[in-house]
Amino acid sequence: MQNRAIAYAACVCGLLLFLSPVIGAQQLITGAPLRIPPILEESSVAGSTTDTGNESAAENERVFDLTVNEGSREFVRGVQSPTLGYNGEYLGPTIRVRREDNVRLRVFNSLGEATTVHWHGAHLPAEADGGPHQRVPAGETWEARFRVEQEAATLWYHPHLKGTTAEQVYQGLAGMFIIDDEHSDSLALPHDYGTDDIPLILQERRFTRDGRIDYSPRMPDIMRGYFGNALLTNGAAEPNLEVSQELLRLRVLNGSNSSLLRLFVDNGMKMHQIATDGGLLSRPTEVEQVVLSPGERAEIVLDLRGLEGTHPRLMAESNGGNTYDALTLQVAQSLQQSEELSATLVSRKTPSDTNVVRTRDFVMSSMGPGGRLTINGRTMDMSRIDEQVKLGTTEVWRISSRGMMMAMPHNFHVHGLQFEILSINGDRPPVHLRGPKDTVLLYPGDTVEILLEFEDYTGVFMYHCHLLEHEDEGMMGQFEVLP
Ligand code: C2O
Ligand code: CU
Ligand code: CU
Repeated sequence: MQNRAIAYAACVCGLLLFLSPVIGAQQLITGAPLRIPPILEESSVAGSTTDTGNESAAENERVFDLTVNEGSREFVRGVQSPTLGYNGEYLGPTIRVRREDNVRLRVFNSLGEATTVHWHGAHLPAEADGGPHQRVPAGETWEARFRVEQEAATLWYHPHLKGTTAEQVYQGLAGMFIIDDEHSDSLALPHDYGTDDIPLILQERRFTRDGRIDYSPRMPDIMRGYFGNALLTNGAAEPNLEVSQELLRLRVLNGSNSSLLRLFVDNGMKMHQIATDGGLLSRPTEVEQVVLSPGERAEIVLDLRGLEGTHPRLMAESNGGNTYDALTLQVAQSLQQSEELSATLVSRKTPSDTNVVRTRDFVMSSMGPGGRLTINGRTMDMSRIDEQVKLGTTEVWRISSRGMMMAMPHNFHVHGLQFEILSINGDRPPVHLRGPKDTVLLYPGDTVEILLEFEDYTGVFMYHCHLLEHEDEGMMGQFEVLP
């Protein structure tokens, strides 16, 4: 699969020579210290329960406030590019909560247009999901309340309004959402946020010659991918990070609209992948590269022993053809000792399909009339429920990507739960894809089987291609979990 990623990039990049990594007369600002999104502080005026009685800590609600606002940022010297952000001008703070917390997320929309905020990867009630049904009109506030009922993971949040998701994300609306739990606290893993535990939001972006973020997709961009001429890492190009611990944990999100990113370190060093989208792998897995499609996450640990005083670079190759410096590490001359990485991270039952009540097929296609982007021949209709499943059951979903006439990758994201990949083209998934997933990549012609358990919540949830231009074109459907 990894070799196919490269082959795919090679055949597409010929079409994209008109995109040059040089932006114009002016240059992107590079080489600044990596921006670390601040951890969002709890709001002091909770409006939460004020009883002084016998409430347990678990009943207390943790209240967080996000404001969706317009702003601007200087990416190219002397040019303020208009942007969007949460509590700031571009991207948003990191929301960090613990398993079993009761959270209340208040979102105030100060934009001149509607938006939503979706908690990507979270297991929660449908009305808290922040999908296209939970519209937040301009000037209004929306609240999501739920109890965190899932294991430690690196999730994220972003807008999800039908038709404008791609543009709003592109202008800067995205943030990390980290869940901790007791088990992950007990492991020997780098834990010090901003020091040896680093969130990385990678976004391929296109800049105009005059240095502004340029979102103006034309038909080929929508179909093949809205590729760019720069890569932003936490909102800036080619940042640096000083490292003084032996082990460095990177929580990486591909926050691009439609670019696949292949990550590797320029000195050829191996990385240890420790987590997938929704939780830890059973054990650290050595990888030479990590391929992430839009919306996917991976946590990787780099062992910097022996690299004191060097400047290894994390590289990101986009399937649009460009390769970028995603992050340069300034490794200290002498490193503080880190605890040896836990050899076992989590024990999981091996996937059992014995309880499967049903197998469903999902065909992602770009073949329909006019090259429409469809799932099972249909585009998204908010008033149509495409699939109904029953609470408490387990199903296999078999997803395939067709439309070889216009070969393009897709991925498949499911709301409200984490699934398990059972097979990719009939084979067991590689070890680094055997953790909890909410988004899975499909190259042209692929068939992927996933196992889903519908637990805890009824209601209407989405599934869709997370290439945001495809999603906005309607490559999305709805499933309802019935009691
Ligand atoms: Cu990341 Cu339906 O979303
Ligand atoms: Cu989602
Ligand atoms: Cu797609």
